[in-house]
Amino acid sequence: GRVAVLLGGESAEREVSLRSGTAVLTSLQRQGIDAIAFDPAKRQLTDLIKENIDRVLIMLHGRGGEDGSMQGALQQLKIPYTGSGVLGSALAMDKIHSKQIWESVGLPTAKYQIADKSGFEAGSCSAIMEKLGNKVMVKPAREGSSIGMAKVTSAEQLETAILDAFNYDNQVLLEQFIDGPEFTVALLQGKALPSIRMSTPHTFYDYAAKYQDDTTEYFCPSGLAEQDEAELAALASQAFHALSGSGWGRIDVMRDDAGRFFLLESNTVPGMTEKSLVPKAAKVAGIDFDALTLSILATSMT
Ligand code: DAL
Ligand code: MG
Repeated sequence: GRVAVLLGGESAEREVSLRSGTAVLTSLQRQGIDAIAFDPAKRQLTDLIKENIDRVLIMLHGRGGEDGSMQGALQQLKIPYTGSGVLGSALAMDKIHSKQIWESVGLPTAKYQIADKSGFEAGSCSAIMEKLGNKVMVKPAREGSSIGMAKVTSAEQLETAILDAFNYDNQVLLEQFIDGPEFTVALLQGKALPSIRMSTPHTFYDYAAKYQDDTTEYFCPSGLAEQDEAELAALASQAFHALSGSGWGRIDVMRDDAGRFFLLESNTVPGMTEKSLVPKAAKVAGIDFDALTLSILATSMT
């Protein structure tokens, strides 16, 4: 059958998606699969029918691609696609709803507040800083790749960061900053891959640390004791499934000084660029990039 790799799109993560999608497309093609690139920002989705596409590998990041709307449209067109369905995609895209669900099933996630564009009062910033421990991450509810995010340490910075984040979303998550290393766990067809620990000289793992600099250090194996690695893998798997994730994805986690894990977010279309995390973890598990792209494609068949 013929495969379309969806890439690009209209979200703020368009550039990242073009890099991910091109890498995946090239890999499928060199394995003899009849695959084409398809950018929904440039073409009508119904062209997938005209192109005789049998299945779609979604490599779109962010809203419009990773949030359930594309998944719903493909379902209407009766074209099988990779990864999570409508609900799983929509829940994981929204960091606030993700945290609310994790809390409700007893999974660990850092303290937070919500800022709404309509009812936001700058006067509340000092109280928020105090409540969240004076180091706060500001995150648009539905973005990726750290776009629109800031780390703040004063009420004045908090106000500025919230107003900036409102450029990306009407809802903004204000989250206690967990001082400690960040980990990530890739999930592939029901299995957790070895965790990766990221270490960045930036104040947090931001867009530049992810895609532009060469200053981030990646550790895989991550250096956790065997028991902690098992705990993290189980946590990631539970977190992914609590949000109705399926097929493949990646769970991002912080670990504090006391060794406690805190869930940050779930990604249902994780990056597949040359700097991205899932390919690194897969490699350590003995799954090379080509085997990984085939495995992701196979998630469209379940
Ligand atoms: N949102 C980016 C692509 C990631 O999670 O890797
Ligand atoms: Mg994300």
